[in-house]
Amino acid sequence: MKSLLKFITCGSVDDGKSTLIGHMLYDAKLIFADQEKALELDSRIGSREGKIDYSLLLDGLMAEREQGITIDVAYRYFTTEKRSFIVADTPGHEEYTRNMAVGASFADAAVILIDATQGMLVQTRRHIRICSLMGIRHFVFAVNKMDLVHYEKSVFDKIVRDVKRFVSEFDIGSMKIIPVSATEGDNVTRTMGASPVRMPWYRGGALLEYLEEIEVSDLSRPEEFVMAIQRVSRPNHNFRGFQGQVNSGEISVGDEITVLPSGEQANVAAVYVADQNTGSAQAGQPVTIQLDREIDISRGCVICKATKAEGANMFTAKLFWMDEEALLPGRNYWVKLGTKMIPASVMDIKYKIDVNSGEQIPAEKIHKNELAVCDVILSEKCAIDQFDRDKDLGSFIFINRVTNMTSACGTVMHTLRRSNNLVWQETDITKKIRSEQKGQTPKTVWFTGLSGSGKSTLANELEKRLVAMGRHTMLLDGDNVRMGLNKNLGFTEADRVENIRRIAEVAKLMNDAGLIVLTAFISPYKKDRENAREIIGEDFFEVYVSTPIEECERRDVKGLYRKARRGEIPNFTGITSPYEAPDTPDFAVDTRETSVEEAVSMILEQIEKG
Ligand code: ADX
Repeated sequence: MKSLLKFITCGSVDDGKSTLIGHMLYDAKLIFADQEKALELDSRIGSREGKIDYSLLLDGLMAEREQGITIDVAYRYFTTEKRSFIVADTPGHEEYTRNMAVGASFADAAVILIDATQGMLVQTRRHIRICSLMGIRHFVFAVNKMDLVHYEKSVFDKIVRDVKRFVSEFDIGSMKIIPVSATEGDNVTRTMGASPVRMPWYRGGALLEYLEEIEVSDLSRPEEFVMAIQRVSRPNHNFRGFQGQVNSGEISVGDEITVLPSGEQANVAAVYVADQNTGSAQAGQPVTIQLDREIDISRGCVICKATKAEGANMFTAKLFWMDEEALLPGRNYWVKLGTKMIPASVMDIKYKIDVNSGEQIPAEKIHKNELAVCDVILSEKCAIDQFDRDKDLGSFIFINRVTNMTSACGTVMHTLRRSNNLVWQETDITKKIRSEQKGQTPKTVWFTGLSGSGKSTLANELEKRLVAMGRHTMLLDGDNVRMGLNKNLGFTEADRVENIRRIAEVAKLMNDAGLIVLTAFISPYKKDRENAREIIGEDFFEVYVSTPIEECERRDVKGLYRKARRGEIPNFTGITSPYEAPDTPDFAVDTRETSVEEAVSMILEQIEKG
């Protein structure tokens, strides 16, 4: 059987990527005769004066490209006498880098185009970094448009020096640099013909020839047995089988296995491959495994034999950020890791990486197209391994919880031990007992709205009413908390995220103590209020104090709006910093229209109901 090479092509605008792939597809006789005719006809009126314009071919093929939810990658299959190929092509529009990162996660090798007239660009460096992040270790550089630099050896040599210097910091399996002309065909598919005449100084073979020969061992698969559970099969009371596809290694009856993330162990009682009791199975096979004892296993768990993978909920990772919205520590995202999809956030940005120089730069947030090293925390333990040991258990994507777009892709550098050394301690006195003792149901009534909208006034009045009813309460108010617990935080977006996260954690603790908590914070970002809802859980009740900015500014109780207008307070909410109103608050009140007493009565009625 011919071997298969999966590769990706990376290029910048106008460097001839489509032409190059088109040319390879054409020579590999992938095109049907009528398509070839059409191409020749098109080219007659195209820009190449009657010669075939190979880029038209790829653009034509791209019309039927696959569409993902957020991803736009076209996979092309072609074959030569020696090898079969799948090339992930990413169209060159503005989301190019995002799509390229996804394409890179599937490929064994990358063909990186460099325009000979331009040399290495920032974009080229970024592409190399992303490919390396996604585990590509085999690089081919096609220095294109050699015809436009008159096939000058010195131009090529300079690019070779630049490339070599840049890639020296990466762990690279193999590298090849080839001078080509995608339009003229020099060194694209075969070196025969024009090439030796036009570039007699180059004897290294053509691009396609090289791709036919290149060895790409799959290093990032462990040797030991690893399998992610896709389904638990329970046809009757006597049978409980765990189904999935063997990711790596082998499994036989009698083997001792470990289940992750729990770390529980058992022995294999039976192995079925396609309904046959085979007793053993190996990588690539779909299997059903029976164990010799009852273990709690569900979809997303991993069964393994002696791997270094472990159950962890904290790890250090390299991230490539692709969201328009910057990454801030403490913000909540969905993380897809293996077959699991769970809430997660970045605890700490360690540094970002300059795509040009590789320099480590301290950062508070990470913007689109930036690379960073971060500590990530998951809402529960997952089976995780280092990316360089296991591609599947060591790579993940972040998904924006509001837009559902892929926000980042990343790879695990190492898990954080401390996550394994923390064990939740069950206490004998529970939240239920504490609240029953107080004769009440804990709640967090979360007031949000502009400064001066009336949050503190309403919260204060509500607390008085609750206490009069014999309830046990606590009021957390913006200014007060900022004078103590949060005195190290200011009003940048990053600081506000942390402000709200801490308050949500404190409110949750107080709910656990059985208290009814009232919070009065601007909490201007939707995501952070959602995060607070997530932390606090079902006790969370959101009250939007919707008094408009004109009214808040007219009242200006603390004189802050006047100061802000004079430019004396940076990042002032409503003026130089945004406020994102809730779409579906549990309760909304405009203090121009409703009196404090009325509003408080209505809120009381609602929370007493729930
Ligand atoms: S939040 O945005 O992080 O939720 P928080 O409610 O804690 O803000 O604090 C808001 C209070 O801080 C305001 O009521 C106001 O008294 C004071 N303050 C000082 N500077 C600012 C600012 N730049 N923006 C908003 N409020 C500010």
